[in-house]
Amino acid sequence: IAIINTTAPCPTLSIVPPPSSSSSSSASPSKPYLVPPLLRPRSLRGRRGGGGGGGGGVASPSTRVFASSMSAAASADAVVVAPSEVPEKMRAWIYDEYGDAGVLRLEDGVAVPEVGDDQVLVRVSAAALNPVDFKRRQGKFKATDSPLPTVPGYDVAGIVVKVGSQVKNLKEGDEVYGDINEKALENLKQFGSLAEYTAVEEKLLAVKPKNLDFAQAASLPLAIETAYEGLERAGFSAGKSVLVLGGAGGVGSLVIQLAKHVYGASKVAATSSTGKLELLKSLGADLAIDYTKENIEELPEKFDVVYDAVGQCERAVKAVKEGGSVVVIIGPVTPPGFIFIVTSNGEILAKLNPYLESGKVKPLLDPKGPFPFTQVVEAFSYLETGRATGKVVIYPIA
Ligand SMILES: NC(=O)c1ccc[n+]([C@@H]2O[C@H](COP(=O)([O-])OP(=O)(O)OC[C@H]3O[C@@H](n4cnc5c(N)ncnc54)[C@H](OP(=O)(O)O)[C@@H]3O)[C@@H](O)[C@H]2O)c1
Repeated sequence: IAIINTTAPCPTLSIVPPPSSSSSSSASPSKPYLVPPLLRPRSLRGRRGGGGGGGGGVASPSTRVFASSMSAAASADAVVVAPSEVPEKMRAWIYDEYGDAGVLRLEDGVAVPEVGDDQVLVRVSAAALNPVDFKRRQGKFKATDSPLPTVPGYDVAGIVVKVGSQVKNLKEGDEVYGDINEKALENLKQFGSLAEYTAVEEKLLAVKPKNLDFAQAASLPLAIETAYEGLERAGFSAGKSVLVLGGAGGVGSLVIQLAKHVYGASKVAATSSTGKLELLKSLGADLAIDYTKENIEELPEKFDVVYDAVGQCERAVKAVKEGGSVVVIIGPVTPPGFIFIVTSNGEILAKLNPYLESGKVKPLLDPKGPFPFTQVVEAFSYLETGRATGKVVIYPIA
């Protein structure tokens, strides 16, 4: 992959005002998605309050997604672990050489990370995988990576069990979510989220939306921050049109939703293979384009913004209006396209929380998951096919 430094201006804030509380009920997320019962082993249900959820509809005949209409599912999960109860050792996925998914092993005796002054220790309930996790494991970022061995994982949702001396707002017992690496390719943490505990700077976390369970919350941070930052850098705003390449992926599915339901796009078009076109529409796409049958270069209309989440910038620039923006998150860049690397920021999550809590924006979990903690290798292998729909989530963890 080719990744270069950002050339676009820093994000400004151009989203429409968050929904008022009265809009919550009118924007019920229950319709388009099927919500399964919370997937947690029976043995854990009593101890942590169980959670729950159910009902909902079906997104499309070919794909089933989990969404945010859990009825107060999440808060019932909370259990406060007193600092004295935090063990010294934990279970974690770890690798000590770069390679394919086979280098990963689940180990029992990994030291629970120390908490820095500005950090909290999170007992990890759920984590999500991102392509950057397997690219890192393959050694693609060797030059800037933390030393081996590595506990992988960027996205986390869990409960704060310890706070550093300089932590201002979070406290023990808070249910939080976030992407633990501030820069996706620099200063990466050696001890990531595929573990029972992970230490994270307070500023990278936000309080979890009340209506989401931990698996749903874990699916969001890196992908939604990438979607948001790209739209901001492109100067996206109400009344503009956007074409999303890769609309069914972790990032693309959130670009569609943010553009339509947060920014107030005039038109959202998105690409996927044939079986995922209905899903694109259910997320908010006005136009779902089958990339196996149509060429985006030949569409009869051009777009204010093209958001390329698949690495086809050379083609993407042919679908943008003159003076428009082409946001690229992967692959080589052709002018006027620009690429950026996401910055994790809990404030962005906090800003988007009202849209998640109202159901305007919904987590999209691949129906093959959530994968239990013992099946991280299988989860990686699946993500690495490049065919995942939405996010691949690991749950339950601790
Ligand atoms: N620069 C950054 O900061 C940043 C941040 C996040 C991600 N990324 C990168 O962005 C890329 C996307 O990330 P992601 O998390 O969204 O990946 P992902 O969830 O693994 O994407 C999988 C999806 O891509 C779709 N897809 C594959 N080829 C396609 C094509 N030619 N046209 C349309 N859709 C296609 C697949 O749909 P079909 O099955 O229908 O093909 C599938 O649903 C990755 O390379 C990742 O490393 C970069």
